[in-house]
Amino acid sequence: MGRTLIAPSILAADFAKLGEEVRAAEAAGADMIHVDVMDGHFVPNISIGPVVVKSLRPHTKLPLDVHLMISPVDPYIQDFREAGADIITIHPEAGPHVHRTLQAVKASGAKAGLALNPGTPVDALDYVIDLVDLVLIMSVNPGFGGQRFIDGVLPKIEAIRRKIDAIGRDIILEVDGGLNAKTAPRVIAAGATALVAGTAVYGGDPSAYADNIRKLRSPA
Ligand code: DX5
Ligand code: ZN
Repeated sequence: MGRTLIAPSILAADFAKLGEEVRAAEAAGADMIHVDVMDGHFVPNISIGPVVVKSLRPHTKLPLDVHLMISPVDPYIQDFREAGADIITIHPEAGPHVHRTLQAVKASGAKAGLALNPGTPVDALDYVIDLVDLVLIMSVNPGFGGQRFIDGVLPKIEAIRRKIDAIGRDIILEVDGGLNAKTAPRVIAAGATALVAGTAVYGGDPSAYADNIRKLRSPA
């Protein structure tokens, strides 16, 4: 198992200086930049769209890990890819044809992620796993940063780990929501290879970002 990847979520950054915040996360040792896109319809909050992804693109060489919490999602995939998304993650509930949506992500040239809400069963991955480069297990209900980690997702992470190992392909197993120095070791032990963290990275002063990231990756 390689080093755990850390993907700071800019949802918790200062939106008045996003470019700076992304550069600070890269300098602090982040592996990807997680971009939470919310439409006020699929989730009860509104965040940002492709224009912001495009503006951020020149600020970092890190992969932009774009998490689409929007419905419909198909009409926007190409826009996010053209804006500079490297990974595009979608929810199976975002449309009637999850296989078609994942095909559209792959056709755009981006890596494809499938996000599973806390209540979404693991078998949502069956029959589409061949199209997937990343599985995003939500450890909170999507829509807001700063929520409490749901313990019930731990067995689900283990179950997805087993499915990925059975396939034998290098699929990223990313966990998103409520991660901090206490919960991170538990999800890593369950088999996660990438951690999304908003509050735990961007909460507080930029001078602490490097330490925040270090604590998530290998807790003391
Ligand atoms: C929730 C988002 C998360 C969120 C994580 O809908 O998908 O990425 O920003 O925030 P924290 O780390 O604060 O739980
Ligand atoms: Zn997210």
